[in-house]
Amino acid sequence: MDGSLIPETPGQARPYVIVVGNEKGGTGKSTTAMHLIVALMRLGYKLGSIDLDERQGTLTRYIDNRRAYAQASGQTLAMPKHRHIERGGDKTKTSAEERGRAKLRQAFQDLADCNFVIIDTPGSDTYLSHLAHQNADTLITPLNDSFVDIDMLARIDRERREVQAPSPYSKMVWENNNRRVVAGLPPVDWIVMRNRLTHIESRNKREIAGLMTQLAQRIGFRVAPGLGERVIFRELFLKGLTVLDDAAQDPGQPPKPSHISARAEIDALLETIGLVHTAPV
Ligand SMILES: Nc1ncnc2c1ncn2[C@@H]1O[C@H](COP(=O)(O)OP(=O)(O)OP(=O)(O)O)[C@@H](O)[C@H]1O
Ligand SMILES: [Mg+2]
Repeated sequence: MDGSLIPETPGQARPYVIVVGNEKGGTGKSTTAMHLIVALMRLGYKLGSIDLDERQGTLTRYIDNRRAYAQASGQTLAMPKHRHIERGGDKTKTSAEERGRAKLRQAFQDLADCNFVIIDTPGSDTYLSHLAHQNADTLITPLNDSFVDIDMLARIDRERREVQAPSPYSKMVWENNNRRVVAGLPPVDWIVMRNRLTHIESRNKREIAGLMTQLAQRIGFRVAPGLGERVIFRELFLKGLTVLDDAAQDPGQPPKPSHISARAEIDALLETIGLVHTAPV
């Protein structure tokens, strides 16, 4: 395949690559990526992570915060093997792309001994993000629960609440799938996850649920149950913790109901990906 950057090592299973992607900003990609990383480490897997957000580097900062918190508090926290592809001072678009491609290839090589590689992408259409999408086994797309976010998947007839045409992002995923199939690989398992769901039943929420069912069939993705709007998902960033970390609980206290619900949501995401009952290889 044109974009394949994952090294094949004889006698060694290649890592399973999960890309968290959406060309719209602020939908929960970095938060989801970090929770997936910690969830899979808790299952005993060896994790690699790649941050392709050259500008913000949120996942990298999340992981740096985790390292700093572990050191400051004297606790042992599992860490992924992490790579951040940063901006260089390239003069031309071509040299930036060539450098980015070489760095991503190198990152995959460095992480070849991992069971999973989780890739966080920026909320915009970049060359590196495309490359990552081409190399994904599973693609997770978090969406905020709004028509603005749904527009990222398809053009919708707002009067009739019907799907009109796929979006450029959906077409990009399809094109990647065509390349994968030509290369003898299975198509990417595309999972769309609603994020920041409110707990109040509303007409808007029901309409979006209906549209998602239509879109899933038309565009070809699976729908994960999603994550609720929870303060806890925002609070833990500074310590580099997730709702899955025991260190995020108050010592000697039973887990808070919001933690329990948030953990159940992450478990449901893992189950949708098909990972709950697998053991480390
Ligand atoms: N389920 C949630 N409940 C509450 N806050 C959330 C939830 N998911 C994400 N957030 C918050 O929303 C903001 C955006 O999340 P995040 O940085 O993960 O999005 P992103 O898609 O990676 O953004 P970008 O496109 O800028 O990289 C952050 O402040 C994060 O803490
Ligand atoms: Mg991000």
